[in-house]
Amino acid sequence: MAIVKNGREVLSNIIDTQIPIHEKYGGVVPEIASRNHIEAISRVTQKALEEAKVTWEDITAITPTYGPGLVGALLVGVSYAKALAYAKEIPFVGVNHIQGHIAANYITHQKLEPPFLCIMMSGGNTQIIHVKNYIEFEVLGKTRDDAIGEAFDKVARVVGLGYPGGPKVDKLAKEGQANIELPKTHFEGDTLDFSFSGIKTAVINLHHKTPDINKADLCASFQKTVTETLMENVEKAIKKTGVRAIALAGGVSSNSYIRKEFLELEKSGIQVYMPDLKLCTDNAAMIASAGYYNYIAGNRSTLNLNAVPNLKL
Ligand code: KG4
Repeated sequence: MAIVKNGREVLSNIIDTQIPIHEKYGGVVPEIASRNHIEAISRVTQKALEEAKVTWEDITAITPTYGPGLVGALLVGVSYAKALAYAKEIPFVGVNHIQGHIAANYITHQKLEPPFLCIMMSGGNTQIIHVKNYIEFEVLGKTRDDAIGEAFDKVARVVGLGYPGGPKVDKLAKEGQANIELPKTHFEGDTLDFSFSGIKTAVINLHHKTPDINKADLCASFQKTVTETLMENVEKAIKKTGVRAIALAGGVSSNSYIRKEFLELEKSGIQVYMPDLKLCTDNAAMIASAGYYNYIAGNRSTLNLNAVPNLKL
């Protein structure tokens, strides 16, 4: 839960992480996630108001995310927000979770304004998006199979690093050399789509066939190869659209190697933006920022709003 002023100023941003709860299962267990949301939501809301030093009278709009995501967890937030909006008579606007990840950049870069391109990289999504204005988006390319975060998590699990895998692969890769050749998937024609299932399977097979393989080298090679794939498609998107500004978004945008490589694009005159590390992974401030821009554009949701697990941009 977060309180954000004018879409850009974070007054509070409370994160109640469930990572320690899910760690022992090697990934998020949806039913456990929603139960823990129920347990946390009132407490976290109270804390967000206190830390921001505001009361309900100060709140202009309540803007929960309603998708994409795990339906049980989304329903907890949507139902709670609906009840609050109804009881407190406050306008209510549902927010697309991916719009939220993009908006994390508005908080970190106070002067950033659309249009720009965004490479959205999370546990459930990998997309190149043309952000035309605050509420209009065009998806230029997307993954045809696994999301990049899923591939990071799978690689981590296979080499025995545990959950959540991305940060652990990032850390171990720093001790290795990217000296193992791994496959990249290219599609025919003029597409900006991705595929990460091939490289994921290649890492699994290599690890099974060569149990004494240097794990740090494997992580470094995986990270380098997927980063090259991301950058090749982003460069194509820049050429295709003529938009010379790229923002990173989603949990995987906290990867230190990906951040470093994308900053290299600045040498060719491209503006590169990335959220502060704490705003890359899921948080409510980014949802409130996107909610603000939807609110000032006049968008409103009714109390019939439902969670939409596969909501598109
Ligand atoms: O955006 P996010 O917090 O949640 C959603 O999927 O909506 O992204 C989580 C994903 C996980 O797959 C996690 O392993 C990955 O982001 N991640 C990373 C890093 N930190 C988080 N992947 C690579 N390097 C990191 N440093």
